[in-house]
Amino acid sequence: MNLAVAKAAVIETRGLGKVYSPGTQAEVVALKGVDLRIARGDFVAIMGPSGSGKSTLMNLIGCLDTASSGSYACDGVDVSTLDAEQLAALRRDKIGFVFQGFNLLPRMSALDNVAMPLGYARVPVQERQRMAREALASVGLAERAGHLPSELSGGQQQRVAIARALINQPPILLADEPTGALDSRTGEEILALFKRLRDADHTVIIITHDPEVARHADRIFMMLDGELQEQARA
Ligand SMILES: Nc1ncnc2c1ncn2[C@@H]1O[C@H](COP(=O)(O)OP(=O)(O)OP(=O)(O)O)[C@@H](O)[C@H]1O
Ligand SMILES: [Mg+2]
Repeated sequence: MNLAVAKAAVIETRGLGKVYSPGTQAEVVALKGVDLRIARGDFVAIMGPSGSGKSTLMNLIGCLDTASSGSYACDGVDVSTLDAEQLAALRRDKIGFVFQGFNLLPRMSALDNVAMPLGYARVPVQERQRMAREALASVGLAERAGHLPSELSGGQQQRVAIARALINQPPILLADEPTGALDSRTGEEILALFKRLRDADHTVIIITHDPEVARHADRIFMMLDGELQEQARA
């Protein structure tokens, strides 16, 4: 990494907090004062025990949920100033998601699932199909384009979800346990794909339980009871 070049923050949170069901018996303090600064071209891993707040943070970074306290700037834009429509546009243009669980639509082919984020109006059908085929090929699934999710293995479904997240070439890729359902060889291929994205100046943030996976990232953060700390690298 060239430290002489100041890299712009794509993700910057200050004192970010999240409380679910505040003021009720079901209240859960899921995030506490998270300060996070991630630059363009960073490949970051977030680790931590189950229930520690990793997906909660991912949902906030991905503008799928709003914080209870603190601030978040996505690519320099304070998201608290945006209305629902502007947030949706920000998500569409800036962020690709790979969810924990794949969130594929069961009645659509792999190809149509991948093409979905392109929208119907914005890109002509031929172009959508071409881009979706290319994205599927990049995760090694060109031959499975016509299959339904139920006709694919868990690892293949995961790769379809990754292809879908990449179809718009989003500057930020968020992936919650992207290699969790994969055998180690396929996992390595996905990690290689993430590194290529990083090298092409995308920002990649993955959540993982696996230290072997996290090791591939440039920076590793640990979430414990809603508090985030960066690990020193050896
Ligand atoms: N929608 C919700 N309503 C209420 N509580 C929630 C909600 N989502 C998560 N929580 C709680 O917030 C805490 C953090 O959950 P989160 O899903 O962020 O954990 P995680 O680190 O992603 O865990 P895992 O590794 O199991 O996926 C947990 O105690 C969880 O029960
Ligand atoms: Mg989670």
